[in-house]
Amino acid sequence: MNRLPFSRLGGILLLASASLLGQSKPAAPATLATKTAAPSKDGGKNLQVFKGLDHEAVDEAMDFISASLGVGCAQCHVKDEKAGWQFEKDDKEDKVTARKMILMTRAINTENFRGKTEITCATCHGGHPKPASMPPLAVLGAPRPGAAPLEKPKDLPMVDAILDHYVTAMGGKAALEAVTTRTFKGSLDFGGGRVMPLEIQQKAPDHYYQSLTTPRGAMLQGFDGHAGWSSRGGKSGPMEPKQLAEIRKEADLHFPANIKERFDKMTVLNRESMDGHEAFTVTAKRADGSREIFSFDAATGLLVRRLAFDTTVLGRTSMETTYQDYRKLDGVMVPYKLITRTSHAAQVTTFTEIKQGVSVDDAVFAMPVSKP
Ligand code: HEC
Ligand code: HEC
Repeated sequence: MNRLPFSRLGGILLLASASLLGQSKPAAPATLATKTAAPSKDGGKNLQVFKGLDHEAVDEAMDFISASLGVGCAQCHVKDEKAGWQFEKDDKEDKVTARKMILMTRAINTENFRGKTEITCATCHGGHPKPASMPPLAVLGAPRPGAAPLEKPKDLPMVDAILDHYVTAMGGKAALEAVTTRTFKGSLDFGGGRVMPLEIQQKAPDHYYQSLTTPRGAMLQGFDGHAGWSSRGGKSGPMEPKQLAEIRKEADLHFPANIKERFDKMTVLNRESMDGHEAFTVTAKRADGSREIFSFDAATGLLVRRLAFDTTVLGRTSMETTYQDYRKLDGVMVPYKLITRTSHAAQVTTFTEIKQGVSVDDAVFAMPVSKP
């Protein structure tokens, strides 16, 4: 929906939402463009199982359901020629079934997993409307189950060594902290020939502004260190609470320099192979309980992948960002290519021009006044 998941790297955060760009998904009643007041408590007119959930939580649940079943909103919701989407209507059988399924899933978790969300729509559906009930067929030449025991990782480096290697590889703490502004020009590629120009401006410690030129006009987003906002078609509005919490963390220009301080606890998890390169995975927990997984290239020390998780009412979702094409700029390393994937969108960000130390006008970080 109209939430904008950000891809993360201190200093580089981006949106990924097909619906924003006028693609497959319709806008729900609470779009960022029309929403200016504080979020209302009830996110719908006919909520029975999600009673009391706000718009942002209902939106997330709907994205979760659609991705888990591999279907669009029209599978369960009716669209009227004149009135548009009528999400509150219960005309479609699948919507009624989905409601029962939500209750069934809750009951499974309550009865078997002490109420922890272990089973979700995705567990059974796995991206399909009808779950498989038979075990999968064997693959020619694949090892038989039990033939090769999983290798236990050994001789893993200490987490401090991995993080120190990373900071050094990025140019060192001093050089990273000397960067006070950074501007980007490039594009976002959503696949299928949908490529849109993108511009970003950042100022330390955490000021962020982004402009994406979509077929429906410019989409702006910003954060001034306190308030986060989105703006499109002359209408501006504050970010939803979760999105604001997100941008607050991610607008951090000096994140690479201070990666250790940004987390409560970091632990080395594993050694893995990524595109033929050895990488170390590190789990990182923030004070607010949120968790991320980082993969650092064992040879270069650079961050190659970041996995972040989000909790919705129906279960967790993840977002993966991979970082490529690192280049040295004024003594620090900057990735020029990012690939971001969520359960409902994938995108490639390519920068053609990145500048540091240029002057950035503070006015760009403030929410534009809505036109009447
Ligand atoms: C598999 C079925 C299913 C799919 C797919 C689905 N929904 Fe829903 N949706 C539901 C159910 C069930 C409810 C009612 C939940 C309740 O009773 O609390 C609902 C409720 C809603 C509501 C609140 C309506 C109201 O006013 O009561 C909105 C808005 C909504 N959906 C939007 C969407 C959007 C947008 C998509 C596509 C991204 C989508 N849904 C995909 C099943 C579905
Ligand atoms: C424990 C496994 C399980 C879980 C969990 C589960 N489902 Fe299902 N679901 C099924 C099965 C099995 C069917 C198919 C029944 C059939 O073939 O008639 C089904 C069918 C459906 C259908 C009808 C699809 C169709 O084409 O007939 C909908 C809609 C649906 N599920 C939604 C959901 C949603 C939404 C969730 C999460 C809240 C969910 N399910 C969780 C097992 C599950």
